[in-house]
Amino acid sequence: MKKITIAIDGFSSTGKSTLAKQLAKKLHYIYVDTGAMYRAVTLFAMRSGFIEEDKIDEDSLIKTLDDIDLKFVFNSNLGFAEMYLNGENVEKEIRTMSVSKNVSQISVIAAVREKLVAMQQAMGVDKGIVMDGRDIGTVVFPDAELKIFMTASPEKRAVRRYKELLDRGEDIVYADILENVQKRDHIDSNRAISPLKRAEDAIEFDNSDLGLEDQFQRMYEHSLRVIESQ
Ligand code: DC
Repeated sequence: MKKITIAIDGFSSTGKSTLAKQLAKKLHYIYVDTGAMYRAVTLFAMRSGFIEEDKIDEDSLIKTLDDIDLKFVFNSNLGFAEMYLNGENVEKEIRTMSVSKNVSQISVIAAVREKLVAMQQAMGVDKGIVMDGRDIGTVVFPDAELKIFMTASPEKRAVRRYKELLDRGEDIVYADILENVQKRDHIDSNRAISPLKRAEDAIEFDNSDLGLEDQFQRMYEHSLRVIESQ
């Protein structure tokens, strides 16, 4: 069967990665979480002392971009790839609130986007890939055969994120999560370079009131139709 590229974009905590992982598993495709890459660069910047009290030393980060080695390493127990930053598994650390608070500001930097977009395009040359992010259908793979744009209300998304972080044992307050979700929506949608927007040929998928199984079934069936039509 012909392999396609599936681009999934949308606001934070809309369940993009859950859907993308399930689709990739079922179709035997590669899954790439591009948010993890922006998060890993953010963690690198934080550890290097380039972010202090919301202020970013952009020049120093840009000068050291070549020192950032990012790799996805498949974990067969988990069934998906984990993010490695310079050889260290940072999968847990990149999901913390402190990284979430800084990541939007890192992802507006043009040189960072250039580096990561080039890596993402290289990963997708053979198709058979499900990639999720903000600019996958618009910038990374404008020719993707299937583009899905996911949305859900900010409150629903904040509740999902709150539960996830609680499960991970983080000490957090719901109001902070909602504020972070709204702030990131604003920055992600209004930045000058590659703002989050629906590609004209993307299907919009509002999952506010859909369970995980339903979401997966709908999009899996849709993927099969697109694959068969190639
Ligand atoms: O999907 P996520 O919430 O893990 O993404 C973290 C941040 O990274 C998000 O606030 C915006 C940024 N991002 C981006 O600018 N472009 C992408 N392709 C993926 C993520």
